[in-house]
Amino acid sequence: MPVKSDAFVFFGATGDLAYKQIFPALQALIQNEKFDLPIIGVARSDWNLERLRDRARASLREHGGMDEKAARKLCRLLRFVNGDYNDPATFTQLRKTLGDAKHPLHYLAIPPSMFETVVKGLDASGCADGARVVVEKPFGRDLRSARELNSTLHSIFPEESIFRIDHYLGKEAVQNLLYFRFANSFLEPVWNRTYIHSVQITMAEAFGVQGRGSFYEEVGALRDVVQNHMLQVLVLLTMDAPTGSGAEAIRSERQRLLRAIRPLDPKEVVRGQFDGYRHEPGVARNSKVETFAALKLHIDTWRWAGVPFYIRAGKEMPVTCTEVFVDLKCPPLNVFDRIEAEQSNYFRFRLSPDVVISTGARVKRPGEAMRGENVELIARQQPKRPRLPYARLLGDAVRGDSELFGRDDGIEAAWRIIDPALNDAEPVTRYKPGTWGPPASDRLIAPDGGWHNPVVTKTPAKSK
Ligand code: BG6
Repeated sequence: MPVKSDAFVFFGATGDLAYKQIFPALQALIQNEKFDLPIIGVARSDWNLERLRDRARASLREHGGMDEKAARKLCRLLRFVNGDYNDPATFTQLRKTLGDAKHPLHYLAIPPSMFETVVKGLDASGCADGARVVVEKPFGRDLRSARELNSTLHSIFPEESIFRIDHYLGKEAVQNLLYFRFANSFLEPVWNRTYIHSVQITMAEAFGVQGRGSFYEEVGALRDVVQNHMLQVLVLLTMDAPTGSGAEAIRSERQRLLRAIRPLDPKEVVRGQFDGYRHEPGVARNSKVETFAALKLHIDTWRWAGVPFYIRAGKEMPVTCTEVFVDLKCPPLNVFDRIEAEQSNYFRFRLSPDVVISTGARVKRPGEAMRGENVELIARQQPKRPRLPYARLLGDAVRGDSELFGRDDGIEAAWRIIDPALNDAEPVTRYKPGTWGPPASDRLIAPDGGWHNPVVTKTPAKSK
């Protein structure tokens, strides 16, 4: 049984991620799991503890609502260490603030370029002893840097103490994707190349980079959301059932599937950039960073050979929505009316902003003629995201439960797929905000019937 962490340290305490996700997640943990650990924020700034407490309260008000009692407790548990990550004194101060804690959890909510400096600082100061480390995505910039980062981390922490976070894995809807697949016997017989024509995943955001221009310049859509969130969704959709139980069984199966995905062919990748991106603060005037990516993937397994998988992810799209569309083949013969390709059966998994699991079917229209119409059978529909993914994941990390975190081999396998498309392998094409990206994205998927643009009745408030 893994030991429970006895202190929660987060680097990047004054940053964007802390404001939008970590404080609300900590409040949820206090509300639901009686979270009672010292919470130590670390940042390089001229702030003091009082200012950090004000920031926490503002974060709760803006992101999900403040529960006065839980917020008071959060502020009581909060400590602050102010200092430069390059300065050993920052880590000496952290060790002092940790007091008697023997198993701290260090969450690196900081840009990837700082990971190495911070873990080395933790090591030199003794803060890494008996500790866990939670590392934000993107884990590295490419396969080579991910390998280097893995080896730096392994020189300080054993693999079971390293938690590579991808908040998509903590989403209720993403969990349900896996549950729905393996808890229903009707799905397995059709879940293969014989019945499935193609699969597409769309992650659309109706907003831009929201002041995160300098972060985004380091990543772009492929590194920001495709290498991690999108590939994870694809894996849960296509992996085989785990053999045996426990976290490692599921992680191994995820890894097996990742290994079977063919590295991208740059000719099957479309990169786009929305007009106006280059005028965002922190963005280079001649930036070639993509804010949109569309790609075609192939999975070389017995189950999936020949089935095309399409992913597209973009900023400044017409709606905010993440949706998976699994298109089934048409019946072999038209017994009654003619069934066009776009009228074939499908499964639809909407992951956000609301949660939907549904299947598209044909039924006879009332009347004498044997003519049909499309209906959608809804298995699950939830209006809003029910639980904060960060609360789920950080709670798991504190308990030492690694099932929903990336393993070293899995992260490297994911980079192996994306690597050929990085570093401007294909030119970036401009697109207008409020559109579905460059026309080349439509051409990419045209042979398989085109994109199914998610329909959202009301665009929700901006999330991250
Ligand atoms: C983050 C990306 O990991 O995920 C952001 O850095 C993106 O660019 C966000 O907006 C989307 O997350 P969610 O949970 O709102 O779909």
